[in-house]
Amino acid sequence: MCGIMGYVGKRNALPIVIDGLKKLEYRGYDSAGVALLAENGIFLAKKAGRVAELEQHVQGSAFAKASADKSVSDIPKGNLAIAHTRWATHGKPTDINAHPHSDCKKEIFIVHNGIIENHQELKEALQREGHIFSSETDSEVIAHLIERQLIMENKISLEDAVTEALGHVTGTFGVAVISKKDGQKIVAARRGSPLILGVGDGEYVLASDASAIVGVTKQAVYLHDNELVSVSPDGFHIFNLSKKPLEKNIQTIEWDTESAQKGGFSHFMKKEIFEQPETLKNSLRGRLMEDGFAKLGGLEDVKERFLSSKQISIIACGTSYYAGMLGKYFFEEIAGIPVSVERASEFRYRNPVMGPDYTAIFISQSGETADTIHALREAKKRGALTLGIVNVVGSTLARESDAGVYNHAGPEIGVASTKAFLSQIGVLMLIALFLKKKNGASSTNGLDMVHEFKALPSKMEKILKRDSEIKSLAQKYLSYSNFAFIGRKYQFPVALEGALKLKEIAYRYAEGYAAGELKHGPLALIDGNMPVIALAVKDSIYEKVISNIEEVKARGGKVIAIASESDKRIGAIADDVIFIPESLEMLSPMLSVIPLQLFAYHTAALLGLDVDKPRNLAKSVTVE
Ligand code: F6R
Repeated sequence: MCGIMGYVGKRNALPIVIDGLKKLEYRGYDSAGVALLAENGIFLAKKAGRVAELEQHVQGSAFAKASADKSVSDIPKGNLAIAHTRWATHGKPTDINAHPHSDCKKEIFIVHNGIIENHQELKEALQREGHIFSSETDSEVIAHLIERQLIMENKISLEDAVTEALGHVTGTFGVAVISKKDGQKIVAARRGSPLILGVGDGEYVLASDASAIVGVTKQAVYLHDNELVSVSPDGFHIFNLSKKPLEKNIQTIEWDTESAQKGGFSHFMKKEIFEQPETLKNSLRGRLMEDGFAKLGGLEDVKERFLSSKQISIIACGTSYYAGMLGKYFFEEIAGIPVSVERASEFRYRNPVMGPDYTAIFISQSGETADTIHALREAKKRGALTLGIVNVVGSTLARESDAGVYNHAGPEIGVASTKAFLSQIGVLMLIALFLKKKNGASSTNGLDMVHEFKALPSKMEKILKRDSEIKSLAQKYLSYSNFAFIGRKYQFPVALEGALKLKEIAYRYAEGYAAGELKHGPLALIDGNMPVIALAVKDSIYEKVISNIEEVKARGGKVIAIASESDKRIGAIADDVIFIPESLEMLSPMLSVIPLQLFAYHTAALLGLDVDKPRNLAKSVTVE
């Protein structure tokens, strides 16, 4: 996820902002950059790769300049700088696409977190007016919009120019701006992307999270959405985006750098579980249309071919494979196209029937999973249209597939996938709604879907509030070493995912089953020593799941049910119940998976295990 850092004060800004960028590295990024207001103008440095490379580049260019000038010079100096770590969303991770970005005259420099949804139309309008763009990013439009505002209104302040410019923007931003002409200040604003102002003694830092601030000061002002701050060595002023001045309290940051990086959570996995309401919004932003269809820019070029596919194959590994199983249900239900789902490690070694009238969709958080990449190459050889659903922009899978959709989940640091899974489900549903155009016969009401997608983040928050209740359950079942997870239809892949989470971080033997399959074998395992976690939400197959739970109870099994809030019966059947809000059947996996993630998390944490880095596993499986 991108990170913003800014400094204004009495010290040399460059080492401070570079140090701040290092504190933001944990968020994940692919390039970094800095703009310093130096004595002789703006010093700009941008580099794909690590912050250390940017640092070396800054030192190198200073030394090169020194030897060319034959003067005694060193690293550029100045008391004001903005800096950024970029996690690519629009445009590849290159030096040019790294922030800061500037206007045509290289007088205004901006760093931006978030997504500008209407960047294409803004860019086209600005280009018609003569603005020249240098990068492929959505962010660059902000610099040109500010420039336009300053040209249009001669005496306008930088604060007003930024406010007016942001008025044209749809989407999310945390943005910091400096201008050569207004050299003493940083103007920053936010909507949907965090921004904190650190208040030191005659010096100020701006950052997208507290970890980059605590090295300078522990006193901070938290900006809220639609607020703007103007900060100079003399102090700071905060306004809302309607230009009304605001009074804000200075608060003390209690965290050290490490806990600030985890947002106060004990582990990245827990932080990522709690980020999911926001993740869903980010994955859908600008893509889900009010009419119930989806706009997916990444698929436009291959639309005809995709829509006329005879068959779709979804290919992935692990958690991404379970998301793919849901994709099959969505596509068949909504678009009426036959879909097969396959594990990449199997697909690559058999002789699959696949040709030019097939579409193969590859799902991968990292975009670097060796099995999935090899399967993609195999599908390409057979002439299929290849699409990627990938979280990491510019990864191998994103580069090698014909087209695709990014998850926009932000970097996932915990090895166990949580928010990426949720975003994969969201993107698969968007693709189903994109395909729906082909087949008017679907009974799925897109408008209901839009309505429910909007309601889901607050329903997720409601489940997250049950965290301590779920922790108590994990404590209650801590001594059991074998678990079964059961579910049917849309809840079957969730059962598989719940079992995988418990296996990988708590090292408990856990198996996911289609509940209807129990009687075909696994029922023999059931006794009082093997708790069964049953996904029993009120859906079209609820009664059948209840019968499966009764089968378990009749064999002395212990049942923890994940059930709908309105369910009055379940309490009498199951030993323990975690209630979740009701949802549309197809979207309910996005809710029911959350208690399972938390159950696995708490089990592992209570056992004192290394939750974020489970033994024997890697975040990116780049070997066969
Ligand atoms: C489970 C998990 C793994 C990954 C799998 C595929 O929590 O993280 O099962 O889902 O290794 O990884 P990606 O999605 O990066 O291809």
